Amino acid sequence: MTSDKVTPDWVRAQKGTEKKLTLLPAYDATFGAFLDQAGIDLILVGDSLGQLVQGHENTLPVTVDDIIYHLRCVRRVVKRGMLIGDMPFLSFQISKEEAVRNAGRLIKEGGAEAVKLEGGVDEADKIQAMTRAGIPVISHIGVQPQSVLLTGQFRASRGKALDDVRKLIEDARAVEKAGAFAVVVEAVPISVGKKITESISIPTLGIGAGPHCDGQVLVTHDLLGLFTAFKPKFAKRYAQLAETIDSALKDFVREVNESSFPDDTHSYHLKDDHLLEEIEKL
Ligand code: KIV
Repeated sequence: MTSDKVTPDWVRAQKGTEKKLTLLPAYDATFGAFLDQAGIDLILVGDSLGQLVQGHENTLPVTVDDIIYHLRCVRRVVKRGMLIGDMPFLSFQISKEEAVRNAGRLIKEGGAEAVKLEGGVDEADKIQAMTRAGIPVISHIGVQPQSVLLTGQFRASRGKALDDVRKLIEDARAVEKAGAFAVVVEAVPISVGKKITESISIPTLGIGAGPHCDGQVLVTHDLLGLFTAFKPKFAKRYAQLAETIDSALKDFVREVNESSFPDDTHSYHLKDDHLLEEIEKL
C-alpha cells in the first residue's frame, strides 16, 4: 500500500480543511491510470457506464457483474486513489441482506475499497448493515439517476422548495448517522449545497451542488468533452476530446485513401540488401 493511500478516515479528516476532495469515474485501465496519476482521490466505477460504455439510455440495465468486470480492469492500475464500486439499480434496494451480499461481491470479486449507493433516509438501514459488515459506504442524494422512471428526467434541480431542502438535510443526516463516510450531492442550488455541507460532519462531494461542498465530482467523459450529446449546466468541459478524436480519425481515413499513410517513417525496412535481392527474385 502506498503511504499516501486514500482511506475512509483520510477522506473524513479532510472536512473543514483547505483540501478539496475529487471524485471522477473510470471504467477501464487507461482512464484509471490517468485519474490516479492526476491525483484524483476517489475513483468510481460508476453505473454511468450503462450509457457511456454499454450504450443504454440510462443506468438501469447495469448489473453487479458489469460493475465487477470494470472494477477488475481499473483495479489493476489504481494505486493511491480509493477505488469505489457503484451499487447498480436493484442491487441494494430490496433488503439489507441483498445489499450486504452485493456490496461484498464488489469488494471480494472486483477489488473495490468502498461502495456508493443512491439514497438517503430510505436506504439508511442498508448503509448501516453494510458498514457493520466492514464495507465503507458513500451515499448519493439529490438527483438520483436510478430514479429516472419516477422522475422522468436526469437533471432536474432538487432543493428549490423548502420541503425539498428539509428532505435533503434529513437524507444527509440519516446517511451520516448510518455510517456513510461521505455523501455525493447531485444538482442542487449553491445555497442548498452549502447548507447540507454545514449540517453534517462527513464530507459532501458535489456534482452540480456549488463551490461550498467539501469536494467536487464530474463525469470524466463530460469533463474531457468526450460525451457531447447532452451537457448538464454544471458539466465544465476542460478539453474537447470528441473534436480531437473525430479529426484524427478523419485524417487517418483521408491519408489511407490518398496513400500517404503509411509513409517511410512508419514502415519497416530490410537492412540486408542481399536479402532484398533474394526476396525480389521470389
Ligand atoms: O455513475 C456515476 O458516474 C456517478 C457519478 C456521476 C457520481 O454516479
